[in-house]
Amino acid sequence: MPRPDAPFAYRSGPRGRREIRLTEGDGIRGLADGPAGRFDVVVTSPPYNLGQPYRTYQDRRPRDDYLAWIGRLGRAVRHALRRDGSFFLNVGGPPRDPWLPFDVARAVADGWHLQNVIHWIKSIALDRSATGLDRDLAFGHYRPVGSPRYLHGTQEYLFHFTRTGRVPLDRLAIGVPYAHPSNRARWKRAAVDRRCRGNSWFLPYPTIQRRATDRPHPATFPDTLPEWCYRLHGLDRLTTAADPFVGLGASAVAAARLGLGFQGWEIDREYLAFAAHRIDRVRSLGRRRPTAPGPRATAAARRVRAESTP
Ligand SMILES: C[S@@+](CC[C@H](N)C(=O)[O-])C[C@H]1O[C@@H](n2cnc3c(N)ncnc32)[C@H](O)[C@@H]1O
Repeated sequence: MPRPDAPFAYRSGPRGRREIRLTEGDGIRGLADGPAGRFDVVVTSPPYNLGQPYRTYQDRRPRDDYLAWIGRLGRAVRHALRRDGSFFLNVGGPPRDPWLPFDVARAVADGWHLQNVIHWIKSIALDRSATGLDRDLAFGHYRPVGSPRYLHGTQEYLFHFTRTGRVPLDRLAIGVPYAHPSNRARWKRAAVDRRCRGNSWFLPYPTIQRRATDRPHPATFPDTLPEWCYRLHGLDRLTTAADPFVGLGASAVAAARLGLGFQGWEIDREYLAFAAHRIDRVRSLGRRRPTAPGPRATAAARRVRAESTP
């Protein structure tokens, strides 16, 4: 009989490097404590120190303490990642604190090369002059800003750190078709009908009906964001991924969808239970794209105490 106070632990899939494991606890310690070089890719989004209403974590502390903690994250990932691995760090900043993402990147940077800076675009507006259509278009969602001083923030950063700055990427794995086939002949190196997508990734949040049941967390990224990171690093060089701040499990769900191994940590057991339920759904759908998790995942989160394993 599991002890009710035992940490939540979830395992799925074959034992070994292709297993998916979620553990309740400190992700920085989890990365730092295990063997060196055991992960191929880390995709993560730490709390941004903005006072987000997480269930357990207190998201407001003195800036210096926060940045020192982020520095520990950078060192823990450096320990746990292979030398030719990729570390994708997602950070956003509110309009009133535009330096925050850069301060976080700087706090991590010791011992790392900043190989790419990717812009995660959550919402975009296209002027009719750009499309040739008869009206402007807008896609995606963003959190509106009250003050008339600022533009609404429609973008976050995805910093791609590597140990050497020379990690080859599989750009065409997330590439896009050429607008016109004649481009293929013009660009001699284009062996296939695809070009690099570039470093602006338009990834809107999936529309949900009820936040409390469909996405009960204040700061998630869409599953497609870690999926593109994994594909970009190269699936032929990726067996096991990790995320020290799992939240509702986007990085784990993407790993499950691609048949990768994964290890993740989260201090909040209800978030973890929600993530575990989502992974089960991916597995039961035979790695097909799952729909929004819905009320059953929330019920699973409520049952989490009973489901905890020592
Ligand atoms: C920005 S959210 C991550 C969201 C996640 N990427 C997703 O899409 O659901 C940060 C998460 O880190 C968790 N957290 C805070 N401190 C932690 C720690 N020391 N170890 C593990 N998780 C932690 C918070 O509970 C929160 O869910």
